[in-house]
Amino acid sequence: MKKIKVVELFAGVGGFRLGLEKANKSVFELVFANQWEPNKKVQHAYNCYVNHFGIENTSNENIEIAKYQIPNSFDLLVGGFPCQDYSVASTGAKGIEGKKGVLWWEISHILENKKPKYVLLENVDRLLLSPSKNRGRDFAIMLMNFYKNGYNVEWQVVNAAEYGMVQRRKRVFIFAYKKSKAIIKKSDFSSSSLTDVLNQYGVINKAFKIKPFLEDTQVSKYDFKEEFKDEIDITQNWINQKFENTGVMINGDIYTLRTKPQNEPKIIKTLGSILENNVGDNYLLTSEQKLKAEYVKGAKKILRYKPNGEEYYYAEGKMSLVDDVNKPGRTMLTSESTINRSSHFIAVGKDKIRFITPIEAERLNGFDDNWTNTGMPEKMRYFCMGNALVVDIVKAIGKNIIEFNEK
Ligand SMILES: C[S@@+](CC[C@H](N)C(=O)[O-])C[C@H]1O[C@@H](n2cnc3c(N)ncnc32)[C@H](O)[C@@H]1O
Repeated sequence: MKKIKVVELFAGVGGFRLGLEKANKSVFELVFANQWEPNKKVQHAYNCYVNHFGIENTSNENIEIAKYQIPNSFDLLVGGFPCQDYSVASTGAKGIEGKKGVLWWEISHILENKKPKYVLLENVDRLLLSPSKNRGRDFAIMLMNFYKNGYNVEWQVVNAAEYGMVQRRKRVFIFAYKKSKAIIKKSDFSSSSLTDVLNQYGVINKAFKIKPFLEDTQVSKYDFKEEFKDEIDITQNWINQKFENTGVMINGDIYTLRTKPQNEPKIIKTLGSILENNVGDNYLLTSEQKLKAEYVKGAKKILRYKPNGEEYYYAEGKMSLVDDVNKPGRTMLTSESTINRSSHFIAVGKDKIRFITPIEAERLNGFDDNWTNTGMPEKMRYFCMGNALVVDIVKAIGKNIIEFNEK
């Protein structure tokens, strides 16, 4: 099999590399990896990465500098580019215009200068809708940027648990490849023919098969290369258009439709199945922490003020205090292990509850036990897992990239 030379950006603790190595370690050859946590003296994620993969071909600098160290010739660019500006958790989300969002242009710089054959990116699904005041504009800019650089694109929002993995983590995977390698060429798609084509040929969907959300779900087609000149034109003139959870861009024509998984997973992997036995008392919540947990997970109305001073009530519904161990885990965020609505709590006996352990956090993403046990504080272990991805998704896509590359 032909080797595939990989550059990994925003590498974190190496979820992409691990997934690709699990797909086939002798095919994927990492030629450059970059990871740098802004404003942090100790670079825990980078140290963890180096601990597992060695220091060779790695860089611990801001991508703005590191991009100039990337080798000229490689095949596949991967990265989970920072998503703070798009995520629901962040306030004042500014999308591509935001400080972190600007990192897109670092990727763009590499596409333009190095022209890798393939690109595989991961992000929060809200990226497709960002910014909130002008739905879809940021993703449209990215698609235009891919188009201008000569790529076709497929994207799919994958909820790992819907495909038999242990976390209900919904992330958009974006695969781009040089237009000259186009496999999907058809230009008039009904919803079922588009899903059929993607299930058969799509590098993502071959692994994560889909069907139209409803029988009569329609494909939307955007002739956006006719409508918009370039990224700036989109920035200035885009008005709310929706990108659905599934889509492709073929020679600048965009087809998008709402889909769901083709089948229920054969086996549902539960949170209970990945829990450790004999967890130490240090993971139990104190009675004070438990009270706070009950409050944050409870129903409430909070008085807040708009920037113009106007009052409004922010309302939240009641959540179960403890997680259902008979279901897959919920999405893990970087705040895991703090008293937070998003944190997992496990019932212990009748009236005690505990945090999940760092190993359980690793298992939720499919990392090997103790992957992040490389000298960083426990809080950081959870943080790194909240930032990372479900490794088996990358493994499955990686296998399809190999097949695609062999053609
Ligand atoms: C969403 S996380 C990706 C995590 C990764 N996929 C993993 O498996 O761990 C984004 C990463 O980008 C890094 N990062 C943020 N700004 C950066 C910059 N300017 N240059 C390089 N890396 C940066 C963060 O430290 C973080 O680890």
